[in-house]
Amino acid sequence: MKKPKYKRILLKISGEAMKGKQEYGIDPEYISYLSKEIESAHKTGVQIAIVVGAGNIFRGVAGSKHGLDRATADYMGMLATIFNAMALQDALEKLNLVTRLQTAVEMKQIAEMFIRRKALRHLEKGRIVILGGGTGLPFITTDTTAAMRGLELGCEAIFKATKVDGVYDDDPVENLKAKKFTTLTLDYAFQNDKIKIMDKSALSLCHANNIHIIIFKLSQKGDFKKAIMGEKIGTTIC
Ligand code: GTP
Repeated sequence: MKKPKYKRILLKISGEAMKGKQEYGIDPEYISYLSKEIESAHKTGVQIAIVVGAGNIFRGVAGSKHGLDRATADYMGMLATIFNAMALQDALEKLNLVTRLQTAVEMKQIAEMFIRRKALRHLEKGRIVILGGGTGLPFITTDTTAAMRGLELGCEAIFKATKVDGVYDDDPVENLKAKKFTTLTLDYAFQNDKIKIMDKSALSLCHANNIHIIIFKLSQKGDFKKAIMGEKIGTTIC
């Protein structure tokens, strides 16, 4: 059987994705679809760590715009990522996949703490490691968490699942003539303010440490596995 291109990757799933067709919250149907996509990629033998966002439940930045203290709002967002992480773990386990949930904030009754070496051991054993609670620190996005954890865990690439199928030179929703990049350099992505696919601190971490980012659309069935096998899917920033 053909080997996957990567040994270990980090998958970043936005909270927005978790709401599927719903306006808000977690769409069980979509989570079940996501889990099958992850299962299919995992079967190739690649080790998978997952960071989930929380935009479907609560966004720290939005909360602070409505008068909440920013740090408090960010902590609320961290808790929301743990909601998503638990739902994803449940859906993956329904497919008989072995998973471990680790959180950056301690909540012993619910999950184990993020301990880098333990996470590495889980990955080596083929367990899918879901990382909830961001980094445990406010003022940091889940994209930056994904970059940090990806680096810490020795991942070869960060797969960022988005609503669009790659990076465009303009907003593809507003500008139908926007062109999709198949590859981009980290330098270009970092310096060009029009590239808003990841926040600057996440890009800066990837840039400084030369880790690849693959932007793709998880709702395009089979694409995640294809990208793991080395097919050109979405946009690769390298
Ligand atoms: P090995 O060291 O490879 O045996 O890993 P393991 O995860 O199977 O062993 P461990 O005994 O650490 O964990 C068994 C189960 O307990 C797993 O589902 C863990 O996620 C869970 N677990 C471990 N530590 C904690 C914790 O502090 N809190 C909670 N809620 N669960 C934990």
